[in-house]
Amino acid sequence: MSKAQVFPENFLWGGAIAANQAEGAFDADGKGLSTADMVPYYKKKDYANLSALMHVSSETIAEAMETKTAEGYPKRYGIDFYHHFREDIALFAEMGFKTFRLSINWSRIFPNGDDQEPNEAGLQFYDNVFDELRKCDIEPLVTLSHYEMPMTLVLNYGGWKNRKVISFFVKYAETVMNRYQNKVKYWLTFNEINTTLIEPFTGGGIVGDKENNLLQASYQALHHQFVASSLVTKRAREINPAFQIGCMLARMIHYPATSSPEDVQQAQIDNQMNLLHTDVQVRGSYPPIIKRYFEDHQIHIVKEAEDDQTLKENTVDFISFSYYTSLVSTTTPEKYGVTGGNLYSTVKNPNLKVTEWGWQLDPIGLRTVLKELYDRYQLPLFVVENGLGAKDTVEEDGSIIDDYRIDYFRQHIEQLKEAILDGVEVIGYTSWGAIDIISASTSEMSKRYGFIYVDQDDEGHGTLNRKKKKSFDWYKKVIATNGEDL
Ligand code: BG6
Repeated sequence: MSKAQVFPENFLWGGAIAANQAEGAFDADGKGLSTADMVPYYKKKDYANLSALMHVSSETIAEAMETKTAEGYPKRYGIDFYHHFREDIALFAEMGFKTFRLSINWSRIFPNGDDQEPNEAGLQFYDNVFDELRKCDIEPLVTLSHYEMPMTLVLNYGGWKNRKVISFFVKYAETVMNRYQNKVKYWLTFNEINTTLIEPFTGGGIVGDKENNLLQASYQALHHQFVASSLVTKRAREINPAFQIGCMLARMIHYPATSSPEDVQQAQIDNQMNLLHTDVQVRGSYPPIIKRYFEDHQIHIVKEAEDDQTLKENTVDFISFSYYTSLVSTTTPEKYGVTGGNLYSTVKNPNLKVTEWGWQLDPIGLRTVLKELYDRYQLPLFVVENGLGAKDTVEEDGSIIDDYRIDYFRQHIEQLKEAILDGVEVIGYTSWGAIDIISASTSEMSKRYGFIYVDQDDEGHGTLNRKKKKSFDWYKKVIATNGEDL
C-alpha cells in the first residue's frame, strides 16, 4: 500500500513578488509616483539597522520628486517585469507553479490616488498578466497594497493617518476587484500590515520628520488600514461571493532569552503586540492588552462610531503570513549582541545561525508559528513568504549552484509538512521571491531570493537575462511530487 500524501491534493505551491520590487517602468503608461519610487540605493550599509535604510525623510522625498529618471532608485526599474512578464510566467509554469503571488501597484491604476477615473493602461497591464497566468493554469494571489501608495496621498493628505485615504483605497480596490472578478479569486488586502508600526513610511506613507508623535500617527494609520481592509472585504463579498480574502502578517515570533519569568513575560507581550493585527482582522476587535498599551504610551485613536462594527462584521476568510526568522525577547538586552532583519533587529539567539544579512535561520520556528496561529484562530493558513536572501555566483559554465537556498527551502518545507501532520490546515506556500528582485529593505539586487537569476547588479547594470538556478529544478521536483520528494 502506498503511503498517503501529506500535502492536500490541491495545495497551492508557488512563488511571490511585489510590484514595486519587480515591475520597474515607474513612469510608463500613465503610472504616478509611489512611495517606493522615493527610496534611493544606499551603498553604505549597516545590517543591524536596516530599517534606517528604508526611512525616507522630507529631504529624501524632495530630491526624489525632482529626479525624473530611474538612476539611483532601483525600485523604479525593478527587474522590468512590466516588459518581461510573459517570459517570467513561462518559467514559473515550467516549475509547475499552481499559484503566483503578485501585487497591483495602486499608482498604476489611480496615479494620484484621488483621481476620478482609473488609468485604463494600468488596468490593461494586469489584465494581460492575469490572462497569461490563466493560460498557464496558474492561480493568481493578489495583494492590493504591498509597500507602496501614490505619492500625492502622502504629500497632500499625510498618508494613511488621514481618514480620507480609506475611501480612496476602497475605490481602488473596488475598481480592480470588479475588473478582475473572473480572473482572480484570492486577495490579500495589506502586505505585512504590522509594517505600519515598524516602518511607517513604507507601511503607511507617514513621513517621520513631519510628525510630532510618530507612534500616535502610526497607530492612527494602522486603524484606518484595518477599517479599509474590512470595508474592502465587505465589498469583495458583494462583487463575487466566491472571492477568498486574507490578511497578511509578518509573523515575528518572540522566544524568551532565558526561562526567567521576566523574559517569558516580555516574550508574551511582544507576541501579543505582533498578533494584535491578526486579532483585529480575524476576531474583529482589538485585543484587551491594547488598552493598557495605549494608556502607557498616551496614544489616542480617533474612531468613527461605526468602526467597531465594521471590523466585527467583515473579518477575513484565511490568514496569510510571512515567515523568515524568529526573534528573542528579554528585559536585559544589554547582556546580548544584536543581529538584523529587514525591518527590525533582535538580540541574538545563540542556538541559531544567521544569513549573510544577519537574519536568524530557524526552520522549526515555522512549524511553531503554524501551530500557534491555527490553535489561536482555526482559520486556514497560507504561507505567502519564506525565503533566503543570499549572494549567488554565476560559474564559468553559466551555472548557479545555490545549494544553500535548496537547504533553506528543504528545511522549511519539512517543518511545514510536520505542521500539516500536526493537524494544521494550510492552503498553500509561495516562496519569496520566485525570481530575483530588488530588496525591499536595502534596494540591493545582490540580495537574491529567486529560483531564477536576473542579470543585473546593484547599480542597475546588466542584460536582464533570466537564468535558471540549481534550485529551479529542485523546486520543480518538489511541486511535481506534491512535497513528497524534498
Ligand atoms: C518581506 C516583504 O518583509 O520581506 C518583502 O514583504 C521583502 O517585500 C521580503 O522583499 C524580504 O526582505 P528584503 O528586505 O530582504 O527584500
